Amino acid sequence: MAEWVVLQLQYPGRELRPAGILLFDSQNDQLHLSLRNLVADENEEDLMEVWSELAEDFRSKIQELGGTQVLEWLEADASHVVQLSARRQIKLESADPSETLEQLFAWHVLAKVSTSQRQYGPSDRKVSEDQLRQAQKQVGPLPSPALQILSLLQNPNSHMSQIEQAISRDPVLTAHLVGVANLAAYNDPARTLFSAIQRLGVDTVQFQVMALTMKKAFSAPTLRTVWNHSVLAAQVARQLAQKTAVSPSEAGLLGLVHDIGQVVLAGLGDFYRSQLQHLREQGLTAVAAERVLCGKSHAELGADLLASWSLPSDMVRAVAAHHSSAHADSNLAALLYITEAEIDDEQDIYDIEKHRSATQRLQLQPQALFRKAVSVDPDLGALRFAAAG
Ligand SMILES: [Fe+2]
Ligand SMILES: [Fe+2]
Repeated sequence: MAEWVVLQLQYPGRELRPAGILLFDSQNDQLHLSLRNLVADENEEDLMEVWSELAEDFRSKIQELGGTQVLEWLEADASHVVQLSARRQIKLESADPSETLEQLFAWHVLAKVSTSQRQYGPSDRKVSEDQLRQAQKQVGPLPSPALQILSLLQNPNSHMSQIEQAISRDPVLTAHLVGVANLAAYNDPARTLFSAIQRLGVDTVQFQVMALTMKKAFSAPTLRTVWNHSVLAAQVARQLAQKTAVSPSEAGLLGLVHDIGQVVLAGLGDFYRSQLQHLREQGLTAVAAERVLCGKSHAELGADLLASWSLPSDMVRAVAAHHSSAHADSNLAALLYITEAEIDDEQDIYDIEKHRSATQRLQLQPQALFRKAVSVDPDLGALRFAAAG
């Protein structure tokens, strides 16, 4: 059993605002926090400042004190800005409490700051674990030609001729790679797959193989916008990576796959879509609505799928965390969080504290950020759907 409380911020002359969830796992004496800046917007600079200080204090107290002592600190020393709701009990389903934490956050914080005052709870969940598993199954395994090509590319002992042979069995991929190799070669176009592979290099070929395989998964009309968003994310992630120690091709790949969980959700069909639409009309963000309906968001669902495809574990973890309020625990996760904030597609409410710690982690200067439309490199442009529906 664990206990949880809603953290409510109070400011003189302003009403209480729900801002976070504290989940206390008494068995392991661990306190988990989901906290987002929902209390203030850019026009409320004074609140933003109080908020930032509090959030920072909070995180250092959790590290320093841990467990119940943080609750005592909150009740004693922070009671002028923070009010805790009554403690309630919950059964932790797994050793990793992050899903429980985010679910509580969606029900008791995100849903309450939406325009509707309606409260959400377990009875609003419409999709069972079994239905989610079925939807993931429908997406299927990574197609075997892609798997084979990727394992050849990752093996330093593979010969170029083996790679060429494996790719040449797929005419669409062959034509695509020759086309991409020629995007920048104005005078001397590659005429064979072999010369295209030579020109592009292993990293780019691997990226393009994965990209084309992923693109197929997003080919339904309702998913084309998500794919084009993913291509933009690949561009932003790649450009940001150039200013950090993260490999640009790895960052690009992460951008492409980060929303693959949307493919799983699309498999839930019309009933789910209409329920989602309904909650969005009530003012919930897409991510909060997913958590209300499914118990998890496309981030966790996508990570499950990518893990089943044996993608590198740090990539899987970065995808799982890209809508959680937990601070990024790797450079890849930090890069993805900043990437999403740069694109700002209103899927989620972005966490100013998490963003700040992610930029610090990567040692990115504020001027490295775009804050405006980013143009897409030709090799990525070639991956876009012309008409996103
Ligand atoms: Fe996402
Ligand atoms: Fe995204």
